[in-house]
Amino acid sequence: MQIAIDGPASSGKSTVAKIVATKLGFVYVDTGAMYRSATVLAQQLGLDYGDEAGLMAELTKADIQFQPDEAGQKVFLNGLDITLAIRTPEITNNVSQVSALPAVRTEMVDRQRQIAEQGQVVMDGRDIGTTVLPDAKVKIFMVASAKERAKRRYAENTAKGIMTPLATLQAEIELRDQKDSTRAVSPLRKADDAIEIDTTKLLIDEVVAEILTIAKQNM
Ligand code: CDP
Ligand code: CDP
Repeated sequence: MQIAIDGPASSGKSTVAKIVATKLGFVYVDTGAMYRSATVLAQQLGLDYGDEAGLMAELTKADIQFQPDEAGQKVFLNGLDITLAIRTPEITNNVSQVSALPAVRTEMVDRQRQIAEQGQVVMDGRDIGTTVLPDAKVKIFMVASAKERAKRRYAENTAKGIMTPLATLQAEIELRDQKDSTRAVSPLRKADDAIEIDTTKLLIDEVVAEILTIAKQNM
């Protein structure tokens, strides 16, 4: 069984997907972390974020690994722990440029499908229901107002000591959504057979309960 969860930035996908996966005993796959890892690789190589050929020369050989831990999961790129590096503002603000590169998408989608072939998964991203796992039994499209999503990012940042103003965060989120929704290759889009959940006014537990109910109806 496959559960696909897509939606814009900070709609609650990864938080909810992780809990749903744990409750069902499925593997959680954070595809955003894969595109973020590719962006860190471009940064390490000193490449322009639009340099597709330069990045692909290394990305095809790159070892990207996820390791579950108490705080969620650790991410390793060629053996190096990049868990914190993939969440810096530099990477967040440039990942949409890297993820729009067609060859990068082909490589990542290939890896994501290989993981899904190995067992039952909850996979979250932007194109899971439309492109990566078009036959997924359960497809969720999670949305929330841009203002609420910016507030969530703000709370996360404050906890980490990052003091970016709320209005800046909202503008960054809206710009990233716009880039992700308008790119040529598998843009962020609700699959025709996806169920939309608006999380603006919902608690994490309420969203989890709703998805578990939908999943159980489809098992
Ligand atoms: O957690 P957040 O919503 O900030 O983003 P993410 O899920 O970590 O994804 C980071 C970026 O990766 C997105 O803004 C997209 O540009 C890209 N992405 C994508 O293109 N396709 C996916 N399946 C997942 C992420
Ligand atoms: O993966 P995505 O970018 O869609 O969002 P996330 O990283 O799961 O969630 C962003 C933040 O919103 C996290 O700090 C969550 O705890 C919080 N959140 C929330 O407050 N209420 C929800 N219903 C879902 C997430």
